[in-house]
Amino acid sequence: MIRALTGADLSAYRAMWLDGLRRTPDAFLLTEAEAVGMTDAQLIARLEQGTIFGAFVQDQLVGMIALSRGGPERLRHMGDLGPLYVHPSAQGRGLGRALMQVAEQAARDMGLLQVELCVDATNHGAIGLYKSCGFVQIGLRPRSVIVNGTPRDDLLMLKQLDHA
Ligand SMILES: CC(C)(COP(=O)(O)OP(=O)(O)OC[C@H]1O[C@@H](n2cnc3c(N)ncnc32)[C@H](O)[C@@H]1OP(=O)(O)O)[C@@H](O)C(=O)NCCC(=O)NCCS
Repeated sequence: MIRALTGADLSAYRAMWLDGLRRTPDAFLLTEAEAVGMTDAQLIARLEQGTIFGAFVQDQLVGMIALSRGGPERLRHMGDLGPLYVHPSAQGRGLGRALMQVAEQAARDMGLLQVELCVDATNHGAIGLYKSCGFVQIGLRPRSVIVNGTPRDDLLMLKQLDHA
């Protein structure tokens, strides 16, 4: 079951986010220290926007994806996807794809024309998933992030919703 998370999901959301950060730090932008430093109020405000979706198995949160709409008027037609995370115990069962589909439908329902995402250039599993969901690579940002002193490249991927 996949649904939009709310402030009531705060503790499960925070726990899963930290779990993902520790297991696959390259899949997240924020560091663990930055994530831990986010206050409950900040996270509840984000959750209450209704655009972070959670996948549940037997009432346990096992996966999530976030959709963020552009803020300035000239970016209001765009959305950013991510982070996307499925707990290892639930991977390989179609939840990642299902979360992508729910987020894409939410973007369509909001009237967004296109959705972008960034993915570590070596994350071949996620890149394969995104391509099969209709995302195309529009660039490679060198030195996109510096992780513990090591630069890493990101692929920039885009899906135009009115072309699909
Ligand atoms: C990427 C991730 C979200 C996929 O979740 P999942 O629930 O296992 O994915 P699904 O079961 O829906 O699989 C969807 C497709 O992705 C592909 N895929 C997923 N993980 C893969 C891997 N490690 N290697 C190769 N392909 C993979 C499969 O080809 C699958 O295609 P299929 O439906 O034709 O079989 C999950 O592996 C994860 O959370 N990884 C760590 C965090 C991460 O990398 N997030 C993305 C950051 S941009």
